[in-house]
Amino acid sequence: MEKVPRPVIRRLAVYLRCLSNLEEKGVQVVSSKQLASMLQIKDSQVRKDLSYFGNLGQRGSGYDVKKLSQKLREVLGLYKTWSVIILGAGNIGKALANHKRLEQNNFKIVAVFDSDKQKIGRQIAPGLKVRNVAELEQFIKENGADIAVLAVPAAVANELACRLEKAGIKGIVCFAPTTLQCKIPVEYVDITVFFKTLAHTIVNSSYNI
Ligand code: NAI
Repeated sequence: MEKVPRPVIRRLAVYLRCLSNLEEKGVQVVSSKQLASMLQIKDSQVRKDLSYFGNLGQRGSGYDVKKLSQKLREVLGLYKTWSVIILGAGNIGKALANHKRLEQNNFKIVAVFDSDKQKIGRQIAPGLKVRNVAELEQFIKENGADIAVLAVPAAVANELACRLEKAGIKGIVCFAPTTLQCKIPVEYVDITVFFKTLAHTIVNSSYNI
């Protein structure tokens, strides 16, 4: 398969969310125009994005919602449940541990770690007690885990990323405002980027005149 650009992959995840909503409503077929209007993009963009994965729709009759959802799940690697550990039981760690849509989307949080003695042993979410970060490697060895979330201060993020990589974690979602020096895939989440992008859009849009 041709290498798929990252913006396309990001849009696939959004298409999948729209398709899940349509499936819940019992909709069976969707056109590229309908999908495009849900994302406020051009329908030619939808067709181009989906064409990376073969001929998924039928000219004139649109896409079968169930089949397209299945295909996108497969492409995004969502045919299995990914086990996720969170490092940092602070504001972000706690919010994520209680975020039900993660599990609904095949990302199951299996453990939360912290170094703060006041937090270790406390229940942070249903079925999740905060573990001591000193037990990180042992936990991964015994239980396995695919993905780690770094919701810790930037000053400790790199050291933890190295430990995670050595312990066999396959990828990291990093909330700490830093760049990690590890070889496994990392997705950086920085809410300020969205604000800056929005500010740029506002100052460059006709609404601002
Ligand atoms: P917080 O201070 O509420 O939680 C951080 C937690 O990390 C604390 O419980 C602390 O005990 C724990 N911790 C510190 N060192 C540790 C270690 N070595 N091992 C394990 N746990 C350790 O912070 P908050 O608000 O949850 O933010 C977490 C990170 O995300 C920070 O780096 C912050 O700057 C960043 N942040 C990122 C945002 C984004 O959009 N990406 C938005 C807000 C914060």
